[in-house]
Amino acid sequence: MSRFWSPVVHTLTPYVPGEQPKVDGLIKLNTNENPYGPSPRVAEAIAAATDRLRLYPDPRATALREAIAASYGVAPEEVFVGNGSDEVLAHTFQALLKHDAPLLFPDITYSFYPVYCGLYGVAYEEVPLDAAMRVQLADYRQTCSAILLANPNAPTGIALARREIEALVAEHPDQLVVVDEAYVDFGAESAVPLVARHDNLLVIQTLSKSRALAGLRVGFAIGQRPLIEALERVKDSFNSYPLDCLAIAGAVAAIEDDAWFQETRARIMASRELLFRDLSELGFEVLPSAANFLFARHPRRSGAHLAAQLRERDVLVRHFRKPRIQDFLRITVGTQDQCSRLVDVLRGLV
Ligand SMILES: Cc1ncc(COP(=O)(O)O)c(C=O)c1O
Repeated sequence: MSRFWSPVVHTLTPYVPGEQPKVDGLIKLNTNENPYGPSPRVAEAIAAATDRLRLYPDPRATALREAIAASYGVAPEEVFVGNGSDEVLAHTFQALLKHDAPLLFPDITYSFYPVYCGLYGVAYEEVPLDAAMRVQLADYRQTCSAILLANPNAPTGIALARREIEALVAEHPDQLVVVDEAYVDFGAESAVPLVARHDNLLVIQTLSKSRALAGLRVGFAIGQRPLIEALERVKDSFNSYPLDCLAIAGAVAAIEDDAWFQETRARIMASRELLFRDLSELGFEVLPSAANFLFARHPRRSGAHLAAQLRERDVLVRHFRKPRIQDFLRITVGTQDQCSRLVDVLRGLV
């Protein structure tokens, strides 16, 4: 604490990211990173782009917006890019979610959402997931300024179908619905095809998970032009160059290498199904996941204790000290070998 702090700093409760230890030999299944790495074309594109380091990057990241637009069947003007989807989300809170009525999001979801509310002074209400940890759309029929859903939800992994998202969007024509699709490529249906029909829908995605580029920091939003314009106005009042020229080049290469994307996500989904089966056989209750992680609890073991025991055996998973989910572990789907080693360790613990 210091007398130089602005008043808002005293009120902040910052987000705590998962551990990034620098220890060799750890099985790191705690931050939903992709075990296969990005397309080899990414490193080539980044190496080629080093020639341009002397210059400021394109503030509009035109090449990347065009590549995303071509890949998703939208116009480049319907795409906003930022330094990770966390930054895209942050701008969304400031540009589009601060109104008189509260913003609604589930009580169990990405824990950065309340942090942004604190930073930007956004009023919010948490809507409880049902007993099966599912989003019940009927619970969102209440006075609100906007709705924010992660789909698939995190940390549960449970996804809503596209027709359910469309029903929600259609039921709230005067409220913005933001769908955070960080994990959508692992088996859920994207809401991007709905954007053309709905001016109140903004879809946010990231290259951190299915494109294995968490270290490059690239995320994007797709929505109709007035929504994108709001994000650009905030971005251009904050940082003209959120994506450097290496990030733009690497991200374009990742988006364009569809074969790598399809192959690696299919491998992760196949490993997820095997891990689901193995954990169920060990007695875990495992939620049905359309993401690159599983959310599981054992009926006779405390989540905190299991996470600590795994840590002692060099396996890192994520545990949340939060009501309703304190006995769950969120386990990233690693390589097949990492998943098998996790199951072997767990077999000795439960
Ligand atoms: C639901 C959700 N949204 C957004 C993000 C942010 O991802 P990034 O900033 O790496 O794009 C994460 C990261 O784990 C996430 O779980």
